[in-house]
Amino acid sequence: EASVKTSQRKTLSKLTCSPGQARIVAYKVAVLGAAGGIGQPLSLLLKMSPLLSNLNLYDIANVKGVVADLGHCNTPAQKETTQAKGKAVLDWDFLLNKAVSGFTGPAELADSLKGVDLIIIPAGVPRKPGMTRDDLFNINAGIVKDLVEVAADTAPNALINVISNPVNSTVPIAAEILKQKGVYNPRKLFGVTTLDVVRANTFVAKQKNLRLIDVDVPVIGGHAGITILPLLSKARPAIEFSTQEIEELTVRIQNAGTEVVEAKAGAGSATLSMAYAGARFAESCIRALDGDPDVYECSYVQSELTELPFFASRLKLGKEGIEAFVHGDLNNLTEYEQKALEALKPELKASIQKGIEFVNRES
Ligand code: NAI
Repeated sequence: EASVKTSQRKTLSKLTCSPGQARIVAYKVAVLGAAGGIGQPLSLLLKMSPLLSNLNLYDIANVKGVVADLGHCNTPAQKETTQAKGKAVLDWDFLLNKAVSGFTGPAELADSLKGVDLIIIPAGVPRKPGMTRDDLFNINAGIVKDLVEVAADTAPNALINVISNPVNSTVPIAAEILKQKGVYNPRKLFGVTTLDVVRANTFVAKQKNLRLIDVDVPVIGGHAGITILPLLSKARPAIEFSTQEIEELTVRIQNAGTEVVEAKAGAGSATLSMAYAGARFAESCIRALDGDPDVYECSYVQSELTELPFFASRLKLGKEGIEAFVHGDLNNLTEYEQKALEALKPELKASIQKGIEFVNRES
C-alpha cells in the first residue's frame, strides 16, 4: 500500500524495460488549462511519460507556443513500438509531429477530448495572498461546469482528474453535470489531492530524517484548510510523534498552499509541486487502466466512508477507476485525528452543498 514506492518505482521499471519486453502502451490524455502555471509543467512531465501516446493540450489562449515548445522534446511519449528483429523501434515521425496537439477556444474543445482515456483539468484562476480557495468559486465553478459538459458529451468513459479549486466544490459540480448528462460514473471522477500527500511526505521525512522514498502519509477529508487531514498515526513507516509535532506538522500541511501563495506574493499559487503531484496522480491512473494491480492513491471522490457524499481517502485504482476504498485508514484514529475529522465535516459539507446548488441553480 505504499503509494510513493509504487508510483516511482513502477514508472522507472517501464522506462528501463529491455527492447525485447517492450509492448504497446498508448493512452491518450487531455489537459484542459494547459497553457497555465500548472498546465505547462504538468504537460512537460506527461510528455516525459512512456505510458502516453497522445497529449492533447487545450486552453482559451497561448496553446500554440506550448505545443511547439513541448513538441521538440525527444522524450519517450510514443504512438507505438514495433518489434523489428527483436528490437523496439520508435515511430519518430509520430514523436515529432503528432504526440502533442493543441486546441484553442471552446470551438476546439470537443476535438481535444475525442478518444481520450484521461482528462486533467487545471483550468481556472489561482489564489492571491489573503484569498481562500473558496474565494475562487465564482470564476472556477463556471469554468469546470462548462468543460465537464463537453467532456460528458465527447468522452463519457474517460477518467477525470479535477485540479481547479475549490476542489471541495468543483468535484461535486462535475458530478452533478455528469449526472445531468446521464453519464456519471463515480468510480471515474477524482479531485486531485495528491499535493497534500506529497507535502505531508516531504515534511515528515524532513522532520524525522527519513528517506523520502520510504515515507507515505495518507491525507483524508478535502483540499482546503482544516478539511485537509493528514493521518500521521497511519504514516509508513510507523513513526512516533510528540503531541507538539503532530499539531505543528498538521497545521503546516494544511497551510502549505498558503505558504507558497505568500512567497509568490501575488504571482499565483503552487504550480511546480502541483504539476509534479498532478503528473504522479495521472500516471497512477494510467498504470491502473493498464492493469497494474498495485496502485494506491489518496483522492477526493464520491464516498461512503463517512456521512459526507464526497471525501478524500486512500483508494485502490484499477481498470475501471476506483476499485476499492482502504477502509482501515479510518479505524483506530487517535483522539486528535478523530476531533479534527469531526471539526472538518461542517465546512466540507457546506462546500459540497455549494457546488451542488450552483449546478442546480444554473440549470
Ligand atoms: P493559471 O492562471 O496560471 O492558469 C490557469 C489556466 O486556465 C490559464 O492558462 C487560463 O487561460 C486557463 N483557463 C481559464 N479559463 C479557461 C477555460 N474556460 N477553459 C480552459 N482553460 C481556461 O493558474 P494555475 O496556477 O495553473 O492554477 C490553476 C488552478 O489550479 C487554480 O484554480 C488553482 O487554485 C488550482 N490549484 C489546485 C491545486 C490542487 O492541489 N488541487 C494546487 C494548486 C492550484
